[in-house]
Amino acid sequence: QANERESLYVVSEYAQEDFERNLWETSPGKAIGLSYFKERGFTDTTIRKFKLGYAIDEWEIFTKNALDKGYQLTFLEKTGLTIVKENKQFDRFKGRVMFPIHSMSGRVLGFGGRILTTSKKVAKYMNSPESDIYHKSKVLYGIYYAKQAIAKEDNCYLVEGYTDVIQFHQSGIENVVASSGTALTSDQIRLVNRLTKNITVLFDGDAAGLRASLRGVDLILEQGMNVRVCSFPEGEDPDSFARRNSYDDVITYLKENTKDFIQFKASVLVKEANNDPVKKADTIRDIVGSIAKIPDRIKQEVYLQECSRIMDISEDVLFNTLAQLQNKEV
Ligand code: CTP
Ligand code: MN
Ligand code: MN
Ligand code: MN
Ligand code: MN
Repeated sequence: QANERESLYVVSEYAQEDFERNLWETSPGKAIGLSYFKERGFTDTTIRKFKLGYAIDEWEIFTKNALDKGYQLTFLEKTGLTIVKENKQFDRFKGRVMFPIHSMSGRVLGFGGRILTTSKKVAKYMNSPESDIYHKSKVLYGIYYAKQAIAKEDNCYLVEGYTDVIQFHQSGIENVVASSGTALTSDQIRLVNRLTKNITVLFDGDAAGLRASLRGVDLILEQGMNVRVCSFPEGEDPDSFARRNSYDDVITYLKENTKDFIQFKASVLVKEANNDPVKKADTIRDIVGSIAKIPDRIKQEVYLQECSRIMDISEDVLFNTLAQLQNKEV
């Protein structure tokens, strides 16, 4: 199957170049796509670096051109770039700005395509379907562009979206990857674990952002990594924040608002429980559940002490809860 996978890579590479050519060289590409990116504050250099593109708003222009150039329908279909229905062919992406998704080594695996008008009817982002080369749960957007900086800084920022990654790069912060709106997986964390033991989760300043970031973090702890979190002001995400602020201000903001994950979670939970004894019991199990995921016993002990202080619960109760949870596991 190595040959077939190679064919999928080749087709994806072609698509990336075609979308990029549309953006810079066709009139709809320039008028709609390029001006959209510029309105978002992306420079030419940034747009070229991330190989952003534009899919023309027609039913099958991409597929037709690809077939004319000798690319085979079967591979176009297997990458999801072409949809075949009742012997007719349609382009999956049309009238969208395109974000190619690269592997750790820089190969094109798939795409995210964003609509330009915000309408409630259509999903804002459309993504490539799973294929033999694209496994959504094993990819982090931006990892190819971030890997050197992650190792050098010995830390990785984890954000939600494509544009967060891109805007951070443009601001000069390059150790950043996106989970692309999906729940974080162990495979994704493993990609980062090879480069650093430190992850800082940056979440959008909305309720969904907070929930999404609390989920999945236990998987990071399980791999023995250190997790910190930083939230953005209401209504802002890393993209909008970095666009409005200078590099120095972003760095200062991150420094002042980044908290250790366990401490953060304990303080959020304690607020939510609001002295309700039943809720408080749940929150104890919840936070100790996270601590139970940490492989290092000494770290566990330190966190039990911290949580005891933050949640105003005796260390013995926390310790016994931890012991119970760990007995259950073995
Ligand atoms: N996402 C998706 N499909 C959607 C909405 C979101 O796949 N319908 C993914 C995208 O990868 C997106 C990420 O989830 O980048 C985060 O979603 P959101 O914060 O809503 O989008 P932004 O990245 O902020 O996008 P934009 O600034 O363009 O609105
Ligand atoms: Mn596979
Ligand atoms: Mn969001
Ligand atoms: Mn955004
Ligand atoms: Mn966002």
